[in-house]
Amino acid sequence: MEIKRIDQADRAYVDEFILQQWYTMEMVVHGERIDLGSADGRIACEEGEIVGLITYRVSGDEMEILSLDSLKENRGIGSRLLGEAVEEARRAGCARVMLITTNDNLRALRFYQKRGFDMVRIYRNAVDESRKIKPEIPLIGDHGIPIKHEIEMEMKIG
Ligand SMILES: CC(C)(COP(=O)(O)OP(=O)(O)OC[C@H]1O[C@@H](n2cnc3c(N)ncnc32)[C@H](O)[C@@H]1OP(=O)(O)O)[C@@H](O)C(=O)NCCC(=O)NCCS
Repeated sequence: MEIKRIDQADRAYVDEFILQQWYTMEMVVHGERIDLGSADGRIACEEGEIVGLITYRVSGDEMEILSLDSLKENRGIGSRLLGEAVEEARRAGCARVMLITTNDNLRALRFYQKRGFDMVRIYRNAVDESRKIKPEIPLIGDHGIPIKHEIEMEMKIG
């Protein structure tokens, strides 16, 4: 598996991957519309195919992970991509790496906690607000759990 930074030449291919995973290029988090199509990140490739993607943005001394997707789970792809993003944050002089996930995403809550991230805030019913902007956000998420709350996780670095 090869990990590389997204460059202009990869953009169309990356956009296609995002659309396959999320059906849209636009995420709504804490009431903000975020265009994943212009986000920085890293791709994991195997035999010329994208098998994983992490996107993030750096603002001040903070990196926010916007998305992390692995097409071949339980083979270390997610961990490698996350590790590369954290390294990038260190190089950029960030004090913390943070992300928002939702209450139904038990796999992500497990994955990030086991990799040094901690839950620092819960935004109760924040997904109701996001649904006003993006009504297609489903009511029921992973494991049949109602999607309601945003959970902020962080890793302090530096
Ligand atoms: C969360 C997600 C990115 C994890 O990706 P992944 O590629 O499965 O991650 P990894 O393979 O690195 O780790 C997953 C598990 O596989 C295990 N694993 C890694 N390599 C392994 C190997 N070679 N053999 C067996 N198990 C392995 C890891 O130990 C880990 O288990 P743990 O969490 O109990 O420690 C993936 O499940 C996903 O795409 N989810 C949907 C999108 C999403 O929710 N993203 C996160 C919100 S931003």
